[in-house]
Amino acid sequence: MKAIRYHQVGGPEVLRWEDVPEPTPGPGEVLVRVQAAGVNFADTERRRGLYDAHVPLPRILGSEAAGVVGAVGPGVDAAWLGRRVVALTKQAYAEAALAPVAGLLELPPEVSFAEAAALLVQGLTAYHVVHTVGRVESGQTVLVHAAAGGVGLLAVQLAKAAGARVIGTVSGEAKAKLAREVGADEVIRYDQEDVAVRVQSLTQGRGVERVLDSVGASTWKASVDALAPFGHLVSYGNASGPPPHLEVDSLYAKSLTVSAYWLHTPTPPEVQRRAREALLQAVVAKRLRVVVGLALPLSQAGEAHRRLEGRDTVGKVVLLGAD
Ligand SMILES: NC(=O)c1ccc[n+]([C@@H]2O[C@H](COP(=O)([O-])OP(=O)(O)OC[C@H]3O[C@@H](n4cnc5c(N)ncnc54)[C@H](OP(=O)(O)O)[C@@H]3O)[C@@H](O)[C@H]2O)c1
Repeated sequence: MKAIRYHQVGGPEVLRWEDVPEPTPGPGEVLVRVQAAGVNFADTERRRGLYDAHVPLPRILGSEAAGVVGAVGPGVDAAWLGRRVVALTKQAYAEAALAPVAGLLELPPEVSFAEAAALLVQGLTAYHVVHTVGRVESGQTVLVHAAAGGVGLLAVQLAKAAGARVIGTVSGEAKAKLAREVGADEVIRYDQEDVAVRVQSLTQGRGVERVLDSVGASTWKASVDALAPFGHLVSYGNASGPPPHLEVDSLYAKSLTVSAYWLHTPTPPEVQRRAREALLQAVVAKRLRVVVGLALPLSQAGEAHRRLEGRDTVGKVVLLGAD
């Protein structure tokens, strides 16, 4: 089969479209014929050697695969064959990828493969930063950075659905328009305005109860300054680099909470099941809109990376397999 691999870390040009052996599903696994592989910001960090650098090269990237079950391993019910699924996996930038049967999410016909590829990494992250960690409640004001991004557009919608007022931050007018379209009440152009000052004016000097920050270095100070007394900052990414070292003393004046979310933290199965079902049901019921901002053939993964890390994408970026 064909897959995207890299043999050394570096820029998008290190991603190569190569012949590789098709994997064979082991006990408890299935082989998914990939129709849409999700591209995530962390993939660009892995490729640059900034994250997961211990994994030996050459390496196939890709944490989520949507497609059709093409083979089952020992002990797996053959009834899975031919079903439309999405799964967290380790090597999704390929024509076929392995996934544990226990983690498969079966797709109803209303959900496309490209939409499904947004649900597990970005969808679960948005769900957990809003609900599990952020505990966003009705009546609160939530500041969502990178609000037109993959996680951002979903987090805006989930926070709105929880009854919050949402302020998004974005670079560029097209992103501002999209964030408003999915429900952001206010959008701050952080390439043009001082975020903390604008937040104070939008909240009559009170500040926001929650900040969801995936940008890190360049947003951190504004995030802390924008918080209301007893406010809570959820850090879940470093798109602009790691935030500064946190001095606990700096939290006292406003009695602030700073927390973190990571998708790979062991999560109680019941919590994860509820999150996956809530996301899928919301998409089916059209209460949650997945914006697929860029879909390219698998072979063009380098271009997808170039645009994602160049801040030139909105919503979900997917790589499409052959039909
Ligand atoms: N903790 C977890 O488990 C977890 C899981 C999934 C994702 N994440 C994190 O969540 C963030 C969003 O991921 P995503 O896949 O949905 O990507 P994304 O938000 O679609 O793309 C990244 C966005 O970050 C913003 N950004 C700000 N400064 C940037 C910079 N210096 N370089 C590049 N982008 C910059 C850009 O939006 P603007 O142009 O509007 O600034 C850009 O479009 C990433 O930091 C990712 O690592 C964390």
